[in-house]
Amino acid sequence: MTPRQIAIVRQQFGLVARHADAFAAGFYDTLFTIDDTLRPLFPADLAAQRGKLVKVLAHVILSLHDLGAVIDDVRALAARHAGYGVTSTDYDTVGIALLTTLGDHLGDRFDDEARAAWALCYGTLANAMIDAGRSAPAVAA
Ligand code: HEM
Repeated sequence: MTPRQIAIVRQQFGLVARHADAFAAGFYDTLFTIDDTLRPLFPADLAAQRGKLVKVLAHVILSLHDLGAVIDDVRALAARHAGYGVTSTDYDTVGIALLTTLGDHLGDRFDDEARAAWALCYGTLANAMIDAGRSAPAVAA
């Protein structure tokens, strides 16, 4: 990612993080609308899950300039996801749900440049998780 793309993602994440719970709720609604077969993978009560998602996204986004610094965390997260039964195709679905939800929350600010920056950000993280998930044994959370 270019420094400009990183700056866009950070600035926009700051905007959506002000409404973190509503953003995360919108994300899960969108995800399960796109693919309702994913719903049973998650706990019935998503309240705790919503907080965790935003916290991890914040952690990674703050490290976008140097993903190597969080690679151990990404590997561990990927190994747990393999244990949850998440497949590489599911990462595409989550990416679509994330971009859709960002568009819903950011409106006109989510222009072509912002969309491309977010797509690259998510793609980089998802690829790192998919690669790490392939090489690491599945472990329980
Ligand atoms: C960049 C992508 C992703 C991030 C940052 C992320 C983040 C998280 C976090 C922080 C947790 C909390 C538990 C833990 O730390 O292990 C979690 C759990 C989970 N995630 Fe993800 N996730 C991602 C992609 C996905 C994808 C593609 C799926 C597929 C549908 C998925 C499904 C799940 C499930 C099923 C749980 C466990 C829920 C539970 O039983 O408590 N995640 N995720």
